[in-house]
Amino acid sequence: MLSSRTRVLAIIGDPIEHSLTPRIQNAAWRALNGDTAEEAGFVNVAFRVSSTALAGAVHGARALGLLGLMVTIPHKEAAVALCDELDESARLMGACNLLHFRADGKTIGYSTDGWAAVKSLAEEGVSVRDARVTILGGGGAARSLALTFAREGASHIVLLNRTVERAQSVADEVLLLGIETRVLPLNDDSLRQTLPNTDLLVNATSVGMHPREDESPVPPDALHSRLAVYDIVYNPLQTRLLRDARTAGAKTVDGLGMLIYTNVRAAQICAGHELSASVMREEALRALRV
Ligand SMILES: NC(=O)c1ccc[n+]([C@@H]2O[C@H](COP(=O)([O-])OP(=O)(O)OC[C@H]3O[C@@H](n4cnc5c(N)ncnc54)[C@H](OP(=O)(O)O)[C@@H]3O)[C@@H](O)[C@H]2O)c1
Repeated sequence: MLSSRTRVLAIIGDPIEHSLTPRIQNAAWRALNGDTAEEAGFVNVAFRVSSTALAGAVHGARALGLLGLMVTIPHKEAAVALCDELDESARLMGACNLLHFRADGKTIGYSTDGWAAVKSLAEEGVSVRDARVTILGGGGAARSLALTFAREGASHIVLLNRTVERAQSVADEVLLLGIETRVLPLNDDSLRQTLPNTDLLVNATSVGMHPREDESPVPPDALHSRLAVYDIVYNPLQTRLLRDARTAGAKTVDGLGMLIYTNVRAAQICAGHELSASVMREEALRALRV
């Protein structure tokens, strides 16, 4: 139950109405708190915040005593300037998806997408260390994963994107971490050329996402059974790419784990509590009607 002692974590973005975070995180808080009037408890709420209102929203949230703000598109880069200090992850990414309002009055920025992806892969028995990685995409998610996987000791990283220049700028940053990298346009030929020498294929494009659920960025004949295929799209959970990969005998990992561990990390950092990943997964499956 909400009370005058309830502590608040929030998520901000624009748009935000599609976010599963409040629903799954609150299910986990209820499981942790017990839903009793005696419990001070924690709650997560979502706010739609436009770019022009971002600074005011962050300062206001801090003034109201929120524990922290989870930050999503389009504010991840702009949020950096509103932090007093950046954790190493946020410094590496030049972006943050979590602001922790510390008790000493300081705002600390974190980037937890990469950590969440590595954690959800590890949970499924997929290790990034020494893996030959191919990432589809050149946006914010591709960048977080490429830089994190480089830090985690991937053997090399190939980036394939529709807009080659975007992937090239990610590759330039990966190279600075001392990891071999290559950029190709995203098409059937480059995929057929690259995937025979790939251990881990990651879809970090929005191809296959609702409502274009019949689309896949990869032709089925380029997939093979020695691959682990990770699709960070989670709506739908079983994307066309993951279905084709399973048919080809590949190991598959869906995108829900990344979302869940982003929530786990926010609760660890801002509230010092360990939320249940399995409670959040069950609630997300209900929300996605799987
Ligand atoms: N599981 C999670 O927790 C989680 C977390 C973050 C993101 N995501 C998902 O990851 C995806 C990418 O997110 P983002 O933040 O990186 O977005 P973004 O910065 O907007 O990047 C979008 C990417 O998708 C590519 N793309 C879009 N439409 C395409 C098409 N028709 N054909 C080929 N490529 C296309 C873009 O290519 P161009 O560069 O050529 O435009 C770009 O590489 C989204 O679906 C998002 O929901 C999931």
